[in-house]
Amino acid sequence: MDNVTVFDHPLIQHKISKLRDKNTGTNEFRSLIEEISMLMGYEALRDLPLEDVEVETPIETCMTPMIAGKKLAVVPILRAGLGMVNGILALVPSAKVGHIGLYRDEETHEPHEYYCKLPSPIDQRTIVVTDPMLATGGSAVSAVNFIKEHGGKSIKFMSIIAAPEGLNRLREAHPDIRIYVGHLDRCLNEDAYICPGLGDAGDRIFGTK
Ligand code: PRP
Ligand code: URA
Repeated sequence: MDNVTVFDHPLIQHKISKLRDKNTGTNEFRSLIEEISMLMGYEALRDLPLEDVEVETPIETCMTPMIAGKKLAVVPILRAGLGMVNGILALVPSAKVGHIGLYRDEETHEPHEYYCKLPSPIDQRTIVVTDPMLATGGSAVSAVNFIKEHGGKSIKFMSIIAAPEGLNRLREAHPDIRIYVGHLDRCLNEDAYICPGLGDAGDRIFGTK
């Protein structure tokens, strides 16, 4: 799976285990999502383009690399993907942020779009789509479809927990994107929830039910 990175870093694994615990409350859950996103983002952004700029050190003037231009866009899938945005912005504060609103129909599990606002133009940017859960893959595939329809070309998808079903569906639908997964779980249950998973990510981040 050339275009898929599944993280094995102990810090990420430890924090995901704490996320899974049903006794982890909203406040800690939000912090963990943000911390994991930052750790994953550190690796996912290792190919951001650099340009040499002139800097005067206390010793002399030198040419030294900095991130080139305002080239990054973070696009969370609402709602749960929002929880991951600040972790990425902590690394690249100048990134633009778009939003794609999708919810899963509880019976069919199919995604429905209710909002889409992307930075324009988007074709020159590296786009990081965030959603903590990649379950059936329906939401992820739709989100990447929208971004491509708006001209997005260089797309990375970041999820904290994935089911094999969703990961395979996303890879097959969009073989050109890079996918980053914090942990690959066992399977989906009959309600299309990830097992063992962490439950409903949106409800746990926002304290709803
Ligand atoms: C959850 C999750 C993903 C989606 C994953 O969102 O945040 O967006 O389900 O499932 P899929 O891979 O089967 O499409 P949900 O629809 O519950 O909306 P919410 O984030 O607003 O709670
Ligand atoms: N969405 C979630 O929030 N959790 C799951 O396990 C599946 C979809």
